[in-house]
Amino acid sequence: MSDATPLVVANHKANKNWEEVKEWLTEVGEAAKDFRGTVILAPSSPFIAACFEEIKSHNLKIKLGAQDVSQFKEGAFTGEFAADQLKGLIDYTIIGHSERRNNFLEDEVVLQKKVDNAQNADVEPIFCIQSETTPLAKNVQIIAYEPPFAIGTGNPDTLENIAKVAQKIKDNTPYMFLYGGSVSMTNASHIILIPGIDGLLVGATNSLDPQKFIAILKSI
Ligand code: PGA
Repeated sequence: MSDATPLVVANHKANKNWEEVKEWLTEVGEAAKDFRGTVILAPSSPFIAACFEEIKSHNLKIKLGAQDVSQFKEGAFTGEFAADQLKGLIDYTIIGHSERRNNFLEDEVVLQKKVDNAQNADVEPIFCIQSETTPLAKNVQIIAYEPPFAIGTGNPDTLENIAKVAQKIKDNTPYMFLYGGSVSMTNASHIILIPGIDGLLVGATNSLDPQKFIAILKSI
């Protein structure tokens, strides 16, 4: 992983149509030119290939990520998309988001398969944990701490607690550590200064509106 930090991930979840995603890329692409770190867009999966073309044709300083990949390598799995199918299109994928764990009952065994499949396709997993006791998948390098109470609530974790979790996670292994959960233009500049923080994961609350997302980039 050689991209400049801080990494700032926009997780669009199941939002936006293609016209809106294109506008987002245009607006954020302009702001990303002056950003010292790395902007990563994780759009809804139907738009990944089109985003790839858009980013390439306009030479935008935006990396692409998926919000998930299949636990299966390929084959008769209707509705799934395999990591290998995204090889060359994306650099990152979120794995183990609490919305996946809760709505789709993804457990540690499934999540490890997803991590392995992503890595075999040269895709860097951004592995989400919900607390400092969430088991970490093997071989991951980027951890995103996203306490569920903070997701979509406007109620981020405290700076003290984020610092505590970052320190604990990074204690023995040099993971990259991202924080997610109600990141906004008012709190991002404080969160990014916490020792051990390498980036932010911004979900539907403040990544969908390109201007709100740009305000976060400018604030850090
Ligand atoms: P939020 O979501 O920024 O809307 O709180 C974070 C996430 O789910 O990744």
